[in-house]
Amino acid sequence: MHHARLPAFPEGFLWGAASAAYQVEGAWDADGKGPSVWDTFVRQPGRTFRGSTGEVAVDHYHRFAEDVALMAEAGLKAYRFSVSWPRIFPEGRGALNTRGLDFYDRLIDALGKAGIAPVLTLYHWDMPQALQDLYGGWEDRRIADDFETYAATLFRRFGDRVRWWVSLNEQNHNLVNAYQLGTHPPGVRDRRRFYAANHNAFLANARAITAFRALVPQGLIGPSFAYSPAYPASCAPADLLAAENAEEFTNTWWLDAYCLGRYPSAALAWLRAAGEAPEIRPGDLDLMRAARPDFLGVNYYLSTTYTDNPRDGATMQPINTTGRKGTTPTSGVPGLYRTVPNPHLATTDWDWTIDPDGLRLGLRRLAARYALPLLITENGLGAFDRPEPDGRVHDAGRIAYLRSHLAACREALADGVDLRGYCVWSFTDLLSWLNGYQKRYGLVYVDRDEQDTRTLRRLRKDSFFWYAETIRTNGASAGAEEEG
Ligand code: BG6
Repeated sequence: MHHARLPAFPEGFLWGAASAAYQVEGAWDADGKGPSVWDTFVRQPGRTFRGSTGEVAVDHYHRFAEDVALMAEAGLKAYRFSVSWPRIFPEGRGALNTRGLDFYDRLIDALGKAGIAPVLTLYHWDMPQALQDLYGGWEDRRIADDFETYAATLFRRFGDRVRWWVSLNEQNHNLVNAYQLGTHPPGVRDRRRFYAANHNAFLANARAITAFRALVPQGLIGPSFAYSPAYPASCAPADLLAAENAEEFTNTWWLDAYCLGRYPSAALAWLRAAGEAPEIRPGDLDLMRAARPDFLGVNYYLSTTYTDNPRDGATMQPINTTGRKGTTPTSGVPGLYRTVPNPHLATTDWDWTIDPDGLRLGLRRLAARYALPLLITENGLGAFDRPEPDGRVHDAGRIAYLRSHLAACREALADGVDLRGYCVWSFTDLLSWLNGYQKRYGLVYVDRDEQDTRTLRRLRKDSFFWYAETIRTNGASAGAEEEG
């Protein structure tokens, strides 16, 4: 669609930025916090870039007041952060650590004073190690009980001040890495275990949403999904079928489960034939269907292009964690699809396509299929940022990336998408799970690297000032196409 006019961003649009507990907080064992699976995993040699850990991260736990002051200066309307489950329940269940709750109280109150709406993520991958040890974390259905208890604790404590809640962050990306690629804890490569764990996560998500309805009736809750729309490599019917396979196996497997309480039929049939389908017990789908989210959180970075893959074809490969452009191998599922580069799109140093139209297309597909409000909970550019001799970080590439994606949001608004807000990933630089501090996303530079925590000083990048102006003008200065 080529619109004659583009609407302005709506009044009250949530201009935000995002983070996750493990990636920013540090203070990994402070004030009674228990270890998470990441605290353990990163200590295994070779797991992360240069052995980087979140022990200190960017020390947000101790510097949150300074960070919130910077957010206020940028004019943020929303800040998305996650709560660390083992800070609240060091053993994952049982004894409550009130000092953990106190930290988030302080953070939420500081945001409130600054007029910034908190967007609270319940789970951004930091499973308590104790539950992993006790029953294998997501692999046991008891996780749904413990997750509900944890979530309800946060609903009771913060429900008076937090309206926007994210249940699970990128269950798809996290669990594919954890149970198919073996690159996130617990480092398993087993498709049957993957689908079983993933099903339990849907049950946990649904249980938390059900509890939310009773405890925070005025609030809004939904999962954040890592959405990479599938493109066919060509108009050859086999490529279209491959892209359709990929859309079902990498996207609607999760999205249909969250929003419709069912699994897509072709994928389910394939998995049943392969003996890899999850066990669906009576009542599971009813529970999921009854817990339809209030909105969908969309984490968008890239689109992915697919071609046909024979039954003896390419297998799943890990993502590029070196930043050496052009080194990502083709990755696929034999008999279903494999990835190919898209000749129409530029890429980042990590081979991620730069595709604002993919965001518009993704928002369109989600709006059409699920008819839910959408909130972009992550979008941003990972790059090798460093201060120049003038002491500033001139991240023109990030500004161009964000500007083009905001233009796509405006197109999507014109397309009738109910888009409520946009969170840049990330506010400050932070620890990339597998890429250390070489791959930076922040509007604010943090002075540290993998080995040396240096000064941890915060430095506003050019993108910080650009985003501040964008917010001040409610997106009018973002460079999106003008009306008319
Ligand atoms: C998302 C996650 O997958 O993308 C974030 O929710 C993550 O936690 C972000 O940091 C960027 O990923 P990466 O691998 O480039 O750091």
